[in-house]
Amino acid sequence: MKITASAPGKIALFGEHAVVYGKPAIVSSIDKRIYVTIEERSDDDLKISAMDLHIPGIILTYRKDQQLPKVETNFSRVEEAISYVQKGVYLASEYCGKRKGVNVEVRSEMPVGAGLGTSAALSVATAYAYLTLLGVEIKRESLAELGHKIEVAVQGSASPMDTAVACFGGLLQVTPLQTGPSIERIGVNQIPGLVIGYTARETTTAELLKRVRSLRSSFPEAVESIMSAIGSIVSASRRALERGDLASLGELMNINHGLLESLGVSTKRLNDMVYSARYAGALGSKLTGAGGGGCMIALSPSKESAVKTAIQVAGGMPLAASLSDIGAKIED
Ligand code: PMV
Repeated sequence: MKITASAPGKIALFGEHAVVYGKPAIVSSIDKRIYVTIEERSDDDLKISAMDLHIPGIILTYRKDQQLPKVETNFSRVEEAISYVQKGVYLASEYCGKRKGVNVEVRSEMPVGAGLGTSAALSVATAYAYLTLLGVEIKRESLAELGHKIEVAVQGSASPMDTAVACFGGLLQVTPLQTGPSIERIGVNQIPGLVIGYTARETTTAELLKRVRSLRSSFPEAVESIMSAIGSIVSASRRALERGDLASLGELMNINHGLLESLGVSTKRLNDMVYSARYAGALGSKLTGAGGGGCMIALSPSKESAVKTAIQVAGGMPLAASLSDIGAKIED
């Protein structure tokens, strides 16, 4: 028997990083997904193949006297990506008290570890496919909770934002509370002229979370006021979204980017992309996700093509993706 589950990537519109410290965030799923296929084995082993995770960093050395090259990969990044599958199977097994040896195959429609929530999508899709193969039904709330546990087990810390959107899909406001996350659907389908730009990441999400944590312990009051300011931007953005006020949304994106920059999570390349987009006519732009490279978004109604060119000139790559409201699902 073979089961495929898929889960969407995401863009954080407002509130990343601050959401790790209890502030609300606004996030949307996109139409790029991760697919996890799980097949029963006749033994107890776990075999994972992930042939297209778009992880950069392969080195081939051709020796003069040898025909085949020596192949080296960026092993820690590959290992981190694979850990979500391994922990996913392990924790899903613990959740239902059953276990089976399986072959797992992963396919991704987007670059992994670039701020598009691929680790959450991978965690959620793995747990969903594995539980379904074992004949275990799971409610969406519990799947989101399990996905979050998997992310925390691999990364050390994570907010419930990415796993909530990977599981439920749509445009959501996620607020972490003591009793579990509050997940509210925002009644807006599309945001006109949203452009995504991508550049390779220099650092992992786990490392960026550690840096922000350490900044916060060195300067607790200063960092707490930045987090609170981000929280206020989220509230203002939700109101702007609901009344379709794109000019205010753009301005709020710019403020949010400035605050993320003050947390030290942006990079020169990301800033170049963010500013070039604004000069090309975007109403606002910001990094999205953990930062350290990865993705940025620009609100560019009727200026999409100029903004995409500006992103390319700044050394990035525009990604063709749009908002979507399809959450995790079992494929036919
Ligand atoms: O870059 P990503 O896709 O891993 O997103 C991280 C978002 C953070 O807010 C920085 C962390 C989190 O767990 O919410």
